[in-house]
Amino acid sequence: MDEGKWTIGIESTAHTFSFGLVDPDGIPYPSVGDTIKPLEGGIHPREAADHHRDYAAELFRRVLESQNLSSNDIGAIAYSQGPGLGPCLRIGASVARTLSSKLEVPLIGVNHCVAHIEIGRQQCDCDDPVLLYVSGGNTQVIAKLQGKYRVLGETLDIGIGNMLDKFARQQGIPFPGGPVIEKLAKEYIDEHPDATLNGLELPYPVRGMDLAFSGILTAAQRLIEKGHSIGAVCWSLQEHAFAACIEVAERALAHSGKKEVLLGGGVACNNRLREMSTLMAQERESTSHAPPRMYCIDNGTMIGLLGYIELKAGRKTPFESSGIDQYMRTDDTIVIWS
Ligand code: ATP
Ligand code: FE2
Repeated sequence: MDEGKWTIGIESTAHTFSFGLVDPDGIPYPSVGDTIKPLEGGIHPREAADHHRDYAAELFRRVLESQNLSSNDIGAIAYSQGPGLGPCLRIGASVARTLSSKLEVPLIGVNHCVAHIEIGRQQCDCDDPVLLYVSGGNTQVIAKLQGKYRVLGETLDIGIGNMLDKFARQQGIPFPGGPVIEKLAKEYIDEHPDATLNGLELPYPVRGMDLAFSGILTAAQRLIEKGHSIGAVCWSLQEHAFAACIEVAERALAHSGKKEVLLGGGVACNNRLREMSTLMAQERESTSHAPPRMYCIDNGTMIGLLGYIELKAGRKTPFESSGIDQYMRTDDTIVIWS
């Protein structure tokens, strides 16, 4: 990597195609991106990939413009190598390879989950946190142990964001449903400050250190069918699902002896989740951190930052091993940086 040059990060694991920049000193700058929003139903991987392909040239131009740069200022290309949807990842990887060979700069494929951790550590100035990574596709509790980010607990079925989006869709709320559920839940509790969960109970989705969200989704739908208001059910859904995640994170703190919790992933935008995490951390004489919302959701900047860190530590991705890995695990990546 040339000294004095910038790193571009390309994120393409699912709905979002996003380009972000990291300056020569490793300082991240906001991404430019576009998210495909299906009119009905869930995301179709092929359609999302077509969306990403159509936006590639425009997003590359816009991200350079955002910092008044030209392609000569770029010294490295980072991209999400996995995990994610195959067709989407392939578009990101092929755009990255094209840019790397055209600009004659190094290429670095990075682990998307690890990128969520590193942008959070950088933004929140965390040293060695337990990460609660809550997004559409992923729900994991992670901590660094013996040179790798280890998954201490995770969802056994769907991701928490996916569960929220599915519940929302059943109520006719378009993707992404998480923010609307947050708003409805807040309105409900603001109007009913003495509300209790009596009659609004849902299954508690903790399984040892793991989680499972499909049962709670079905049960929440039943509460709606029984005539409970959507606001009440959204509130109960958040209270149960978030408490479960926080409980697993708390146990991870206890087992690992760490003192910081770091939230990441799109669901970490949620104020109620942030509040619960802060309360739990205070009770344990620990601290809770969450990066700005633009760095919780999928973004190219976090990919650029991890690429910058890995290149600096001496890693790069030769073309012959630049293929994507849909099933890449958080603990597949050896942490060669500190
Ligand atoms: P990954 O590839 O890491 O699984 P993703 O494709 O799900 O990520 P993200 O941008 O990390 O993308 O997260 C999107 C999810 O975050 C959606 O499920 C969305 O409903 C949820 N979300 C966004 N904002 C909120 C919020 N305020 N409250 C709850 N959920 C939210
Ligand atoms: Fe993500």
